Parts: sequence; structure tokens; C-alpha cells
Amino acid sequence: MSEKVALITGITGQDGSYLAEQLLAKGYVVHGLIRRSSTFNTSRIDHLYRDPHDPEARLFLHYGDLTDGSRLVTLLERIAPAEIYHLGAQSHVRVSFDEPEFTGDVTGLGTTRLLEAIRVSEVPARFYQASSSEMFGASPPPQDESTQFYPRSPYAAAKVYAYWMVRNYREAYGLFACNGILFNHESPRRGETFVTRKISMAVAAIATGRQKDLYLGNLDAKRDWGYAPEYTDAMWRMLQADEPTDYVVATGTSYSVGDFVRMAFEHVGLDWEKHVKFDPRYLRPTEVDDLIGDASKAKELLGWQAEVLPPELVRIMVDADIEALG
Ligand code: NAP
Ligand code: GDD
Repeated sequence: MSEKVALITGITGQDGSYLAEQLLAKGYVVHGLIRRSSTFNTSRIDHLYRDPHDPEARLFLHYGDLTDGSRLVTLLERIAPAEIYHLGAQSHVRVSFDEPEFTGDVTGLGTTRLLEAIRVSEVPARFYQASSSEMFGASPPPQDESTQFYPRSPYAAAKVYAYWMVRNYREAYGLFACNGILFNHESPRRGETFVTRKISMAVAAIATGRQKDLYLGNLDAKRDWGYAPEYTDAMWRMLQADEPTDYVVATGTSYSVGDFVRMAFEHVGLDWEKHVKFDPRYLRPTEVDDLIGDASKAKELLGWQAEVLPPELVRIMVDADIEALG
């Protein structure tokens, strides 16, 4: 049987790196879209990379950008992937309030450009869209696939647009396309300005005497936090199913940002109240207060279930950041 070929956009991000690892371990040839930058941005996947002249190389990286539609067509024609995992996005909610137009371009229209590239190139690829629990926004929990969207940020609005474009291409052109509506998922590879990683890094630095205080915004927001490698496994399962559909992926548990802070400081024997300070710059003009996902559909159709829950997730992240400090 010939090797399966996959393309991952956003391969240099948290999820892209875990997914690339998992697909390579399954025997896939993996292609990744990366942005040209004046400094290297591949640190999360460097351990997977081999020189392309090496006959054993099965990971190939290509320069490109989600704002450049013609490049996406050329790449698809050249790579002819069987599966496309579209993870690339301006993914930071707070930043999307500062850069709403750019976020709409990359996070919203970027999906349309890729869908069009599939249609124009006629590559018979299955397509995964990184949809988000942020789309539920102000709709009260628990949220599942039938919960109404109520986006509360430019990022969430862009993801809602992309979600509907995926459904439209599924219905209009028969594309095997799935929306994975993933709730927050974290790991030691999480971007350093998302709140869990900001906390775990600060706790590691404070516990080892390198930092004194941690400045945060709203501690009351509640999130359904899972472990990223389990969530990338759910993405793969979606594209192996018999029929394309949309799935919520979540743990079904909910903790506040304050709970996460407390658990992280307690893990190293410190009192969080002595170190955490408030800075209004981290507040958002509109907030998402409460997310708890109901992933029953993913359990029933994909056999997927979250295993790592927040108390353990906190320990994994804090321990990794302490180890990284040497
Ligand atoms: P991430 O770490 O922020 O990674 C985002 C990726 O997108 C990076 O590889 C980034 O490249 C790439 N990218 C950004 N702008 C691009 C552009 N214009 N052209 C091409 N690539 C671009 O995000 P993540 O946490 O892995 O999340 C993956 C996806 O799932 C995102 O779409 C996110 O919105 C969505 N999502 C995430 C969560 C979560 O909790 N993590 C939950 C639901 C949905 P650089 O490395 O060059 O910046
Ligand atoms: N980033 C950040 N920094 N958030 C803070 C801070 C801070 O200093 N202080 C409090 N928070 C609160 C935010 O107001 C928010 O309520 C919560 O912490 C989580 O913020 P983030 O970690 O930035 O994640 P997010 O929930 O806004 O978005 C993430 O999850 C979405 C899925 O629901 C991102 O990964 C999105 O891309 C993803 O779609």
C-alpha cells in the first residue's frame, strides 16, 4: 500500500507539531506550510526534521501564507495530499481585538482560500478545519454541536465564518470536510502568551527565584482545558470516519483561570496570592465567561475521550517549565 500524504497548515504551532509527530509515527508522508520569517520559527518541529536529501526524510516544509491563495493552489497540485489539516490561524483572542482586519483575513478568509484551492486543483483530499469553542462565546454551557454560536471577538467571528464555509463546501461540492470544534487544549508547547502557559512559565520562574510577580487579567473566566496531543488524535480520527461531519472535542470539566493559578502555585508549595497581580491590559472588550463542552458525539462516533484533566495538566505544564529552566 502506498504511503498516505498529509498537508498541515500551522505545522509550527502547538497542535501542528503534535499532529505532525503522530502522523509520521503512523507512516504518513507529512508536508507543512510555514511562513518565511527573518528568524527561525520551527522550534516545535525541529526534532522531526531531516534534510530532504536524506532518503528517509518524510517531513517536507514549504514556504507559503494563508493570505496567498495562488500559492495554495500550486502547493496542492504539487503535493496532492490525501488529507489536509488546516490549523494555521491568527489564534490569539486578545490580539484579534487589536488586529481585527488581519485576523479576519488569515483566520476567516484563509480557510476560504484553502477550500477554493482544493476545488480548483481538484485534489481529492479530506479536509479538517480547526474550529473553536470560542464560536459559542456567550451561549451558556454545556455546549455541543447544536448550541447556537454567539462570537465575542473578531477571532471568534472569523472562525464562525470559516465554519460555515466548510459546511458550504461540504454541501455544495461534496467535499469530505469536518469542523473540529475544539475546546481549549494546552501543553508544554502552548504559546507563551496564552494564559495557562503564561502561568506555568511564571510559576517555574518564581519557584526557582528568577521572577517575583505574575500580572494577569480576568481570573473568573471558566474554561474546559484538555491536553493537546489527545486533541490532535481526535483530528485524525475525524478524517478516518466513513462520513464527514462536525464534532465537539472537550473534557466536560470546567475550571476558572483563578483555579488554574491556584493549582499551579500549590504544586510548587507557594501561595498564589503573594505573587499574582492584576493588570487591566489583559482584559478583553468582550469576554467569554464559561465554556464546558459536551463531547458525546466524538465519543460515540470516533471512540474519543479525554484522559488528562486539569489537575494533571497543570502538573505536566509546570514540571516541564521547571525542567526547561535546568
Ligand atoms: P498556534 O500555536 O497559535 O499556531 C498557529 C499556527 O498558524 C502557527 O504555525 C502559525 O505560524 C500559523 N500561521 C499564523 N498565521 C499564518 C499565516 N498567515 N499563514 C500561514 N500560517 C500562519 O495555534 P494552536 O494552539 O496550535 O491552534 C491550532 C489551530 O486550532 C488554530 O487555528 C487555532 O485557532 C485553533 N484552535 C486552537 C485551540 C487551542 O486551545 N489551542 C482551540 C480551538 C481551536 P507561525 O509559527 O509562523 O506563527
Ligand atoms: N492570554 C491571557 N493572558 N489570558 C488571560 C490573562 C492573561 O494575562 N489573564 C486572564 N486571562 C483570561 C482571558 O481573559 C480568558 O478568559 C482566559 O484567560 C483564557 O485566555 P487564553 O489562554 O488567551 O485563551 P482563550 O480561551 O482566549 O483562547 C484559546 O482557546 C480558544 C478555544 O476556546 C485560543 O487557543 C484560541 O485560539 C482557541 O480557539
